[in-house]
Amino acid sequence: MKKILVTGGCGYIGSHTIVDLIENGFDVISIDDNSRSSTFLLEGIEKITGKKIKNYKVDLCDFNDTNAVFEENEDIAGIIHFAAYKAVGESVEKPLMYFENNLLSLINLLKCVEAFKIPYFVFSSSCTVYGNPDSIPVTELTPTKPAESPYGYTKQMGEQIIGEFTKANKDTKCILLRYFNPAGAHPSALIGELPIDKPQNLVPVITQSAIGKIPGITVFGDKYPTRDGSCVRDFIHVSDLAHAHTLALEFLINNKNKTNPEIFNLGTGEGITVLETIKAFERVTGVKLNYTVGANRPGDVIAIYANNDKAKTILGWQTLYSLEDILGTAWKWEQKLKDDEKLFTGKNIQLN
Ligand code: WQD
Repeated sequence: MKKILVTGGCGYIGSHTIVDLIENGFDVISIDDNSRSSTFLLEGIEKITGKKIKNYKVDLCDFNDTNAVFEENEDIAGIIHFAAYKAVGESVEKPLMYFENNLLSLINLLKCVEAFKIPYFVFSSSCTVYGNPDSIPVTELTPTKPAESPYGYTKQMGEQIIGEFTKANKDTKCILLRYFNPAGAHPSALIGELPIDKPQNLVPVITQSAIGKIPGITVFGDKYPTRDGSCVRDFIHVSDLAHAHTLALEFLINNKNKTNPEIFNLGTGEGITVLETIKAFERVTGVKLNYTVGANRPGDVIAIYANNDKAKTILGWQTLYSLEDILGTAWKWEQKLKDDEKLFTGKNIQLN
């Protein structure tokens, strides 16, 4: 059974990917400093899979602590690297924090990949590397443009760092997965998105507003050149996204990659506006949302959605969940969190 290191394993996409890896026969360990996550999701993973996941509470920006994990686990067969800060708006306000955290952690990890000759490396990238694309949907060959935020730049630079790394380390096979907008929760509602501070992303803002944790939703702009004036995004269910990571790893293990690194877009191929998403949530749940329209958010891309043909044909990836499933599972998870609030209080997790 191959042991896979998942960084950010206590996080949203990391936890869902661990579930999928286990269900597909992999052994998994995690590195997560819990600065923006908690071990609560590891309990959910155990309930779903029956497996207790060992998490090393290590800051990847500390090389010695990171290196010690590899010394203790000589049998790491591959790495999926999620751990990074990911809020567009916050990155505009705190660029140096984003560059330091997202790039130093990647460089430390790659130093260990080189030293311990780890053969497979999957990187959590993002559609933000396309900037504001001239035409949509975007394919993997769509030229990247200047990012719209420091967060987007950390993903562009991360891809470049990995590109140069693979030229010097040909025996490590890498894949860059460009996510569109991850959302939703595992159908069991045992794991999901757990914003430790105020949520930044649209879907958790919607569900926290619907359940009354936050007063309402501000739509950041409705005068964009789109069909209803609000931004266009491609929401992908986190469980569909998770399975793509397992397929990517198996693709590398089976030595099928033609280029190194190999790049895949992970989106549904459907674009939907912010206002349409709000209306879809009301339709799916019957909950009326309270929203107002405010100023554009600095760093926002106007419209983007994926051409996902490459992942479908080359990885054999199929998306199983619809937008209604995304919003319905997100809502079920939010309601579960409220039911467990006493549990959270006991575990001293600050939920807004
Ligand atoms: C979506 C749309 C907002 C909140 C980022 C990363 C991406 C991925 C997901 C990691 C935008 C609007 C949002 C709100 C709003 N990261 N919005 N009111 O910025 O598209 O993508 O997070 O996996 O790589 O770039 O996601 O959900 O923050 O915003 O109107 O309260 O919703 O303006 O148009 P984003 P988002």
